Amino acid sequence: MTLDFSDKDVSDFELEAVISKFKKRFNCHPDFVSIAPGRVNLIGGHVDYNGGLVLPLAVDRHTCVAGAKSDEAGVLVVHSVRENESFVVDLDCPMIAARPNWTNYVRGVVHGFLSRGIELPGLKILIDSTIPSGSGLSSSASLEVATAGILEVASGVTLKGNKKPRLCQQAEHEFANVPCGIMDQFAVTFAQRGCMLLLDCRDESIEHVPFDHDQLALVVINSHVRHELSESEYANRHQRCETVSTELGLESLRDLTWSMLDRSRGQFDELSFLCAEHVLRENERTLKFVQHMKNEDWSQAGEMLYQSHVSLSEKFQVSCAELDELVAGARKLGPEEGVLGARMTGAGFGGSVIVLAEREKASDVVSRVVEDYNRIGVPLSRPRASGFVAKPAGGARVIKFVAD
Ligand code: GLA
Repeated sequence: MTLDFSDKDVSDFELEAVISKFKKRFNCHPDFVSIAPGRVNLIGGHVDYNGGLVLPLAVDRHTCVAGAKSDEAGVLVVHSVRENESFVVDLDCPMIAARPNWTNYVRGVVHGFLSRGIELPGLKILIDSTIPSGSGLSSSASLEVATAGILEVASGVTLKGNKKPRLCQQAEHEFANVPCGIMDQFAVTFAQRGCMLLLDCRDESIEHVPFDHDQLALVVINSHVRHELSESEYANRHQRCETVSTELGLESLRDLTWSMLDRSRGQFDELSFLCAEHVLRENERTLKFVQHMKNEDWSQAGEMLYQSHVSLSEKFQVSCAELDELVAGARKLGPEEGVLGARMTGAGFGGSVIVLAEREKASDVVSRVVEDYNRIGVPLSRPRASGFVAKPAGGARVIKFVAD
């Protein structure tokens, strides 16, 4: 089979690169390549594990996993180009988390297949990625879903509906020890090119909402900062939300109302109360943002992003000085310079911010925000930020080079 490069989400370069690296490593052509995008979340920060409303969008940065069946039954040989490391999985031994940590995203997904009784053949696997790790663009969910794609095609078993993202989320919980929500794996799996994905995390329903990329652009600025406490603070916020909802007798904070919250004043410590308030307001903001986007009211949509950022920073308290500074820098440029709104994206404590910008001025926005931030940063010797204009990409898929 020849490659069909009409697939515009993944550049020829990304696909060609993974194929040629696979050939070089394993001395044969891959049988299949599984591709999964990264994502940004436009709005709905830290509400997915509260049954809330989120609005992610897949971006044109991908994990590419190439695979071929091997003669060695019961063994997976896995190589990561980025890590320049390989490891071997013995399919007949019980799977446990191990070092180095990146292998756990693969181990967890393999375990998910095996524990569902799905038989896997021996495989050679090579992983390549253009998603910067630690950038808040979900490189881990992307790796999980791309790995699941390879295992589906290799085993001949397709995981239908929400089964694949759920299996990947479970891998992250059990093998990477991160109690994440369902947003990232759903976004990576179900995104549609040119669209945002409105996901209701309570009933897992999805609406694809067009992102008007004739007029708008989404800018991603990576702070290249990742603070130590990021994982423990994520688990901490998750726990606080769960405590509030359990004590109020709710299934999740999605069912919280303003009067309930008001009545509960004094019942919880201040941060837990503020977290619950954020979740309640953020769900409202997600819906408002979608409505403003549908009405082409870009400035109101942008205002929702600013409000979301302030709430994540002051109430949920998951931002950091670098992200606040990047958002403030974008805001300072304002509508005259093409900036409509900005907020942090992902788990927080580092990673990236997104800027909703006018299409025409988007490249200038990237350079202005990055240059201003880096100029101030030099005396502080902090990592230099970098940015790009993201294209709303399609979800994960697999390209086969062999007949079934
Ligand atoms: C991380 C998690 C998601 C979500 C976001 C915050 O990306 O993996 O499940 O909770 O943080 O919105």
